[in-house]
Amino acid sequence: MSVLVTGGAGFIGSHVVRLLQQRGERVVVVDDLSNGRAERVGDAPLVQLDLAAERAPEVLRGAFAEHSVDAVVHFAARKQVGESVEQPARYWQQNVGGQANLLQAMQDAGVGRLVFSSSAATYGAPQVAVVREDGPAEPINPYGQTKLVGEWMNRAAGVAWGLRSANLRYFNVAGAGWPDLGDSVVMNLIPIVFTALDAGRAPVVFGDDYPTPDGSCVRDYVHVLDLAEAHLAALDHLAGDAAGEGHDVFNVGTGTGASVFEVLQVVREVTGIDVQPEVRARRAGDPPQLVADVSRIRDELGWTASKGLRDTVASAWEAWRAGR
Ligand code: WQD
Repeated sequence: MSVLVTGGAGFIGSHVVRLLQQRGERVVVVDDLSNGRAERVGDAPLVQLDLAAERAPEVLRGAFAEHSVDAVVHFAARKQVGESVEQPARYWQQNVGGQANLLQAMQDAGVGRLVFSSSAATYGAPQVAVVREDGPAEPINPYGQTKLVGEWMNRAAGVAWGLRSANLRYFNVAGAGWPDLGDSVVMNLIPIVFTALDAGRAPVVFGDDYPTPDGSCVRDYVHVLDLAEAHLAALDHLAGDAAGEGHDVFNVGTGTGASVFEVLQVVREVTGIDVQPEVRARRAGDPPQLVADVSRIRDELGWTASKGLRDTVASAWEAWRAGR
């Protein structure tokens, strides 16, 4: 028996691979290595494959059989919001097309459990301060749309052939569980701030006139190791009798928001650098506040975040320094 992890050489995927290895599970990684790095997966067998390629279902069926796979954790996807707005067809082809190939191969091979990497981007710009899984999901960019469609595809597979899926909506993921597994792609606030500090530039705050306590946007920053643990809890849930109907959606966050100014204050404390930001205009499409209601995952999977913003920023900084 083994777990197949698509995107297992990436930032979040490699944390899940390592945790699974540490608890003695057999792991197989599928990754096209477009963003992933082979050295992150340790001694796990690595199948280099673009899930959206025509040959993908056949290659996956081979991997399922060869490694006696009984569950899949699916990370492999394009994940840059701005890029998705510029190249929507590519996002649909890669994310939705890749997942369709995966689901077809799982159905063919009788692999019946899936943990899916979804996103808070499925909520779009919510009107509420804290979002619940049963609230409206109205994504405002192609990236978020492909993730919502991914959840629907999993639900349809549950109806059609009994797939059990846990769909995890990640909030703002940061930090590192180990210094060699840090986020190497500079796309989000914390690595962007580190890049600015390294270059001696002022980090930019996009807007200080939001209806939030200090005027800057509020997000729910979750430590990548906590997030990775949530995947193990979800896998265990799917293997047990409590999986119910077999299609669940869970927010994965801390339940606590932090503003951009608060993040910068923690960066100051952790790095010892006197960060002096430059406030600029709002960035298009940013909701003022996006914080997870985490009661469902706590009640159903028994998972809660154990690390706070300081751990997240400190581990991100340590991995950042190790990678320079
Ligand atoms: C965080 C906050 C910015 C850079 C995105 C995706 C989301 C998810 C996570 C994948 C915002 C502010 C940022 C800067 C700033 N991705 N900011 N100065 O936009 O909350 O979420 O990543 O699932 O789908 O949309 O993350 O890290 O870009 O920004 O002030 O230089 O930091 O305005 O309020 P975001 P982010």
